[in-house]
Amino acid sequence: MKRHLISATDLSRDDAVLILDTAEEMGRIADRPIKKLPTLRGRTVVNLFFEDSTRTRISFEAAAKRLSADVINFSAKGSSVSKGESLKDTALTLQAMGADAVVIRHHDSGAPHRLATSGWIGGCVVNAGDGTHEHPTQALLDAYTIRRRLAAGAAAGTDLAGRRITIVGDILHSRVARSNVQLLHTLGAEVTVVAPPTLVPIGVEHWPCAVSYDLDAVLPKSDAVMMLRVQRERMNAAYFPTEREYARRYGLDGERMAKMPGHAVVMHPGPMNRGMEITAEVADSPRCTAVEQVTNGVSVRMAVLYLLLGGAEPAATKETHE
Ligand code: NCD
Repeated sequence: MKRHLISATDLSRDDAVLILDTAEEMGRIADRPIKKLPTLRGRTVVNLFFEDSTRTRISFEAAAKRLSADVINFSAKGSSVSKGESLKDTALTLQAMGADAVVIRHHDSGAPHRLATSGWIGGCVVNAGDGTHEHPTQALLDAYTIRRRLAAGAAAGTDLAGRRITIVGDILHSRVARSNVQLLHTLGAEVTVVAPPTLVPIGVEHWPCAVSYDLDAVLPKSDAVMMLRVQRERMNAAYFPTEREYARRYGLDGERMAKMPGHAVVMHPGPMNRGMEITAEVADSPRCTAVEQVTNGVSVRMAVLYLLLGGAEPAATKETHE
């Protein structure tokens, strides 16, 4: 594995399968009465969040704590960043505190790459979402959820060969889509993105996926359908006529869900816009894995931190009684 996790392209098939297998081991710890391993004791993980987050931030925090690391949470709001402090000076402060890993979410695409290659910090860097660029741990937890839910189960060593995954919605602004298309392809899945033409990025023909504008045609051929949030905060123009029109063409409701094969699941990274890309009926149905994805996120991030920080002991052999 590489030293940093900035993009899904940093991962080979074997790296990705190793993370999924390690996450399985980590997941078993969540079922124990004491959900803690001593593996990263004495290591410091800094969560550096320049952009709002609910799931990802608490997920990384829970992951680091379950591995016994010391966790420092930094959010730009209320820090000296609001006084104009640069990424460099913030990074140098973290370095002075001895951060072994920095988990960064930033509104600018490329900020984690800058942090990893600048020499400002010595620890490893994990991208927790940068602008519209990438969100590799989200893609890993999505792949993990798909592997667990679909027939082959969570058998160690397996990838997603031949699985048909459809990603629907605001592809243009979605770092989740970019990381997922790449990682799912690395794992052998066949990926199709579906969106209104205005929300399909320029250059999509170079992505390792098919493109469709017809959701109803793709649904019956999907093993998993991933619905994406319409990211209003990143839109500076009108990309579709009305919300109602968007929901009618690209939203998933009960009637549409019925077109999916019986075994197929509905996914959503959250936060959901109920009534827009997904109806409440679908979001609350047992076929929707949104809550499971959050649970799985902790196991996957434990695996990533464990593997990047090179825990010397096998991941899940020892139980602590602290
Ligand atoms: C996503 C994100 O922040 O990129 N959410 C997440 O990490 N769970 C998707 C989104 O904001 O719509």
